[in-house]
Amino acid sequence: MKVYLETYGCQMNVADSELIRSILVEAGHELSPQVEGSEVVLVNGCAIRENAYRKTYGRLDLLRPLRLERQREGRPFVVGVLGCMAQNMKEALFRHPVINLVVGPDSYRALPDLITKAGRPKEGGHRAGRRAKIKKEIDADLSIVETYSGVEPLRFDGVNAWVVVMRGCDNFCTFCVVPYTRGRERSRAKEEILEEVQRLSEQGFKQVTFLGQNVNSYRTEGASFADLLLGAAEVPGIERVRFTSPHPKDFPEPLLKAIASHPKICKHIHLPLQAGSDRILDLMKRTYTRTEFLSLVDKIRRIIPAVALSTDMIVGFPTETEADFQDTADVVSRVGFDSAFIFKYSERLGTIAARDFPDDVAPEVKTDRIIRLFDVQHRIALEKNRAKIGRTFEVLIEGEDEKRAGHQIGKTEGHMTVTFPSSGQPPGCLVPVEITEASPAALFGEPLRLSVLNAS
Ligand code: 5AD
Ligand code: SF4
Repeated sequence: MKVYLETYGCQMNVADSELIRSILVEAGHELSPQVEGSEVVLVNGCAIRENAYRKTYGRLDLLRPLRLERQREGRPFVVGVLGCMAQNMKEALFRHPVINLVVGPDSYRALPDLITKAGRPKEGGHRAGRRAKIKKEIDADLSIVETYSGVEPLRFDGVNAWVVVMRGCDNFCTFCVVPYTRGRERSRAKEEILEEVQRLSEQGFKQVTFLGQNVNSYRTEGASFADLLLGAAEVPGIERVRFTSPHPKDFPEPLLKAIASHPKICKHIHLPLQAGSDRILDLMKRTYTRTEFLSLVDKIRRIIPAVALSTDMIVGFPTETEADFQDTADVVSRVGFDSAFIFKYSERLGTIAARDFPDDVAPEVKTDRIIRLFDVQHRIALEKNRAKIGRTFEVLIEGEDEKRAGHQIGKTEGHMTVTFPSSGQPPGCLVPVEITEASPAALFGEPLRLSVLNAS
């Protein structure tokens, strides 16, 4: 059948969609770039935040007329929700009139069969017309072993390749739905991952980003996360190795030393703070105090002096007072993150917080706090970025800047976006760029044409 797949949410969902495409094509389905003409529409949806749900439902609402049209004509039309959203909502998704397939993140191998079943006429022969029955299929069983070993993700050409090295999460932070939608932690074999990195290099990818819900909890018998990073960094042709998202609890010294030791492992760590008040951190079950977080930052900076740090934070967690919020703002000022994602707390079905703590911070208070925290963070980031003016950074070219004709866009090792007049080099090259202007979230510069590095 002709399948159209749309992806929402984090990089993990993007990477899962690459696995899904591979599984579908292998089973003989055809991928389609648009809804029109497709017999199957799949949405790989996110469950982390409320707006992800709203977006997905909005998208599915648009399919109602098409569902009715296909029903009238007696032609098959499968509309499926996949991923975290499927796992979180399960059968409840069938309340939406267009959905007839629900498949969780550990069941993608069964997807081709489920699509065929859901597309088959119900009880012999398609009855055309408005009242025709739609067949519904669901597989939302979590696995403790599934890592999609042996499935080669179907990637589009590019500079960066996402490589999922572990799946699931055992931390159960009280606000987070991931342990319920993604199940228990499990890691892929190091050899299998490094062989994949080798193939990616042969295909022309210059950067690999290791992914996992708790990526630095990666461990297998005989291999640590540090071993994995070092192994990938040694693959010829791979210029940069990154990883996301780690948990602050899993940064043993050997891992920090490994990052410091290898020039191809990017000196950038995403270190989710979530909150700066000990009381809130405890309610969130983050397993560290503000002091422990601050000492980890000191240790990271001691071992990797030039490291760039980014973070995630939530404002308006249940019972958060102005004093708690000030504690978060205080940690932000003390650390001086290079960039940050800040979210308003939103209650998620099935989480410990949803069960135990009423969502009692008023929406206008959450809005006020997020604005103030953005403000603190913006001032810090602007100051840090302005200090880069006049310095030269190696930038990995990602492509044309779609917003500025004649300009290219790329990233520094610290994961800062840089825009610069076209260097004449193709995506995937490393170019030295002298920074001339800075904003809180981006840098602008001039490529140094005479000494282009690594123009392979
Ligand atoms: N409400 C708001 N933000 C959340 N996040 C995860 N769950 C929630 C929630 N219920 C944020 C965290 C996490 C990031 C990926 O999303 O900051 O690190
Ligand atoms: Fe969610 Fe916490 Fe696991 Fe991250 S570590 S995925 S925030 S439960």
